[in-house]
Amino acid sequence: TPEAQDAIKRALAKKAVGLVKSGMVVGLGTGSTASIAIQELGTLITRGKLKNVVAVGANYQSRVLARQYGVKTVDFNDINNIDIVFDGADEVDFNKNLLKGGGAAHTMQKVVDSMAKECIILADQSKVVFQLGSTFPVPVEVIPLAISPVLRRLVTLGGIPEIRSALRKDGPVITDLGNMVVDVSFPNGIENPADLEKSINSIPGVVDNGIVSGIATSVLVAIQDGDSVTVM
Ligand code: A5P
Repeated sequence: TPEAQDAIKRALAKKAVGLVKSGMVVGLGTGSTASIAIQELGTLITRGKLKNVVAVGANYQSRVLARQYGVKTVDFNDINNIDIVFDGADEVDFNKNLLKGGGAAHTMQKVVDSMAKECIILADQSKVVFQLGSTFPVPVEVIPLAISPVLRRLVTLGGIPEIRSALRKDGPVITDLGNMVVDVSFPNGIENPADLEKSINSIPGVVDNGIVSGIATSVLVAIQDGDSVTVM
């Protein structure tokens, strides 16, 4: 049920913001789980439990929510480092590789996640997979003018690319950065996520793809048992 989903996301969010200390620079994530974490962070700040916290938002959604919940944001280019970031993911494997981009927000989110000393990923148990790409295709952000050659190159990598469209928009989804998103499924599976991440990103015209290897420092997984939720 939506209520149960919300309880899982809130349990993850509370655990994550519990790691934030006064004076920290916090990176904000994107997606429904990270959005609840932004709300919980705002609650701790407005209650005075956290002081002198500044946040950096990667995307339009996180910056709007930060403003709404009383979390002060600073410009991304005005800070040198981020102490902690909490973010969601669409899939997580046992080596802390992630698949992101379900919300077309992965490019800037990867910049923020990679800047953080601690990158905490919030996932419910349904997101944990043995191999990335099992339940979701790989989202690739592409400069619109380069779409045809990029699609051909993605096929040579063994992928089946499909330009993302939205339910309530005619034509392709356009990202916060003004680009298109191609969802690429790999029917033979993704053996080495780090290699595929690099191969896709070396195609001219690709901005970044949703495979995130070597960035997450910990993954919090919420496990539901009846009415109770445990975060490990
Ligand atoms: C952003 O493009 C995505 O990677 C999100 O982080 C991801 O879709 C997770 O979103 P939920 O927390 O809503 O599942």
